[in-house]
Amino acid sequence: MGGYSALLRVLEEMRPMEVIEQMARSGLRGRGGAGFPTGLKWSTVAKAVHPKKYVVCNADEGDPGAFMDRSVLESDPRRVLEGMAIGAYAVGADEGYIYVRAEYPLAVKRLRIAIAQAERMGLLGKNIGGTRFSFHVDLRLGGGAFVCGEETALLASIEGKRGAPRPRPPFPAESGLYECPTIINNVETFANVPPIMRKGGDWYARIGTAKSKGTKVFALAGCVNNTGLIEVPMGITLREIIMEIGGGIPGGRQFKAVQTGGPSGGCIPAEHLDMPVDYQSLTQLGSIMGSGGMIVMDESSCMVDVAKYFMEFCMSESCGKCAPCRVGTAQIYEMLCRITNGTGTPDDLKLLEELCDLVRTTSLCGLGQNAPNPVLSTLRYFRHEYLTHIEVQACPAQVCKLHSAAEVTV
Ligand SMILES: Cc1cc2nc3c(=O)[nH]c(=O)nc-3n(C[C@H](O)[C@H](O)[C@H](O)COP(=O)(O)O)c2cc1C
Repeated sequence: MGGYSALLRVLEEMRPMEVIEQMARSGLRGRGGAGFPTGLKWSTVAKAVHPKKYVVCNADEGDPGAFMDRSVLESDPRRVLEGMAIGAYAVGADEGYIYVRAEYPLAVKRLRIAIAQAERMGLLGKNIGGTRFSFHVDLRLGGGAFVCGEETALLASIEGKRGAPRPRPPFPAESGLYECPTIINNVETFANVPPIMRKGGDWYARIGTAKSKGTKVFALAGCVNNTGLIEVPMGITLREIIMEIGGGIPGGRQFKAVQTGGPSGGCIPAEHLDMPVDYQSLTQLGSIMGSGGMIVMDESSCMVDVAKYFMEFCMSESCGKCAPCRVGTAQIYEMLCRITNGTGTPDDLKLLEELCDLVRTTSLCGLGQNAPNPVLSTLRYFRHEYLTHIEVQACPAQVCKLHSAAEVTV
């Protein structure tokens, strides 16, 4: 419905700077995790003086259980291609890549079909819509490393190098793919572009909250009656999502916490269910928006065990390039193992907090910087559970297999 009409209109009626102005007015922030303002990113690339520029779509979607991007790519790949082409026109790029995980064969197949169709119809490739604007798109398949979703690691991977992050600045907008200015945006971010161009930035900015505009797709999972993908306006409360859309907790059990933002997000307890879901509120609560994972937990979850589970993921996905993340996540994991098996000591909690702070502040990329979130947020809201494991060698949710007090004293 209306496919590619936004691109054709933009090419016929708008100058590149007008496109960027509409993006800025929309208030759209990147949907891949960091929430950086898209208009600002595009205007940095547009202003860069360089003969070659690139547009890259981040379709790595590495968060376990998340499938927001996959669903867009499988159901409406043209919308993403259209968003990328509009971005390319706005910044003066003529080449783009979609970095998509190889575990998404149907998305890859449909993207290939959509690219070929668009090329045949003159909507991608040389002289799009009979204008002087040309834009070629190709796919690159990711091998499934979580860190390859991080933008600098992703670009290194496209270049055929090992997928490991590098320090920023320079940001990809200044020096990205093959050291050229590069727009890198998430699938959902690009999918938002055509409607913004069709209806205007002000229309988009009317949805959502003062600083978080538009809608967001979440993958609702865990102990909730209705699981699946939801698209909701920013500013909706966690309670509305979990209790109304999600239909509440199955089996009449009590809600305990919701983990937002993927493996490096934080756990938010019941007392904050009425918080609006936007970038600021989630950060304030010690969590992140991330790319939109939302895992609901009931009273049968042990929060120390939950923290350990996510830390194990971050530890095994750490690329090893920087010591704080490589060594720190392993040390944190080991301490959590001690606490959950009943051999933790009261001093461990202070050490755990210090170590989390160190990993958070000194890691090279977002993987290490956010990995402590599940631990820090559970220490903040469920400290008593840690203390019960340590002081009486008991797991309140009866999840952890602890040594009995007698065994420990022996
Ligand atoms: C460890 C790690 C994994 C990431 N994985 C993804 C991902 O799978 N998809 C994504 O769009 N962004 C991911 N990001 C965020 C990207 O680095 C980057 O911020 C994003 O692609 C920018 O696009 P946006 O502004 O449209 O969000 C990841 C970041 C980190 C640190």
